[in-house]
This record gives sequence, structure tokens and C-alpha cells, in this order.
Amino acid sequence: MRVLVIHGPNLNLLGEREPSIYGKQTLAEVNELIGACAADLDIDVRCVQHNSEGAIVDELHAASADFEAVLLNPGAYAHYSYTIADAVAAIGIPVIEVHLSNTAAREEFRRRSVVAPACAGTVAGFGANSYTAALYAAAKIRIK
Ligand code: DQA
Repeated sequence: MRVLVIHGPNLNLLGEREPSIYGKQTLAEVNELIGACAADLDIDVRCVQHNSEGAIVDELHAASADFEAVLLNPGAYAHYSYTIADAVAAIGIPVIEVHLSNTAAREEFRRRSVVAPACAGTVAGFGANSYTAALYAAAKIRIK
């Protein structure tokens, strides 16, 4: 199975960005954890990070040619990007929304994801292990 992981805006700053909320691991360390978990699950994984909405949309459009599922952390776009929601709905492969923090327990504006209804499911609140839990879901639970 091949899975694409898309990290959205500001996640390139992991490690230095609000570590009390997002943890001390850098994006490279998070990607290492994802890679190790993927190897255990016999998944071929590719991790990318984009700050711009258009780049995330382009990545989603291209994904179905090479991947069977996508793990997407849309960052703050989750809360208002109908463009990304439409792109998720448009592609023929399942997308799992991932958040490091428990967005349901944070500020009001973070409690709603407009991307979530287009996704197969959401994992949030487990730090870097939100990604590994989502990978497990992609591999073991036959989504869609
Ligand atoms: C985030 C949660 C978003 O609300 C925030 O804008 C982020 C990170 C998370 O992984 O917890 O950039 O997606």
C-alpha cells in the first residue's frame, strides 16, 4: 500500500512553534516516526509539506496516480478552506484528516473543520502519534 502524507502550513516550524501545544519534535523527526511505523505496516510512505493552499490542492489532485490513501494535516486551512474540502471530495482515494493537537478542546474557531466531512475520518490530539494512528487506520481498517 502507498500512502501520501501532506503536512500543511506552519508545520515546517514544528519543534520551535508553540511546543507546549505541538510538541518538541521537528517535522523531520515526525517524518522519521511516520516512516518507521509505515515500514512496520508494510506501507510505502511519502511525506511532503506545503504552506500554500494551491500547492496542497495540486498535491491532492496528483495523489490518486501514485497512492491509495492520503493523510492530510491541513493546519488552519481545516477551519475555513472549502477549496481543500472540494479537492478532497474530488479525488477518488480516501483522505484521513490528522491534527497533532486536540482541536475540539481548543479555541472556538478550531473546533470546526470544513474539510472533515469530505474525509474518511479524523485523528486528532495524539501529537505525532495522530499520524501513526491514522496510518494504522489506513492499513488495517478497510476504509471506503
Ligand atoms: C493543527 C491544528 C490547527 O488548528 C492549527 O492551525 C495548526 C496545527 C494541528 O496539527 O494540531 O496549524 O492542524
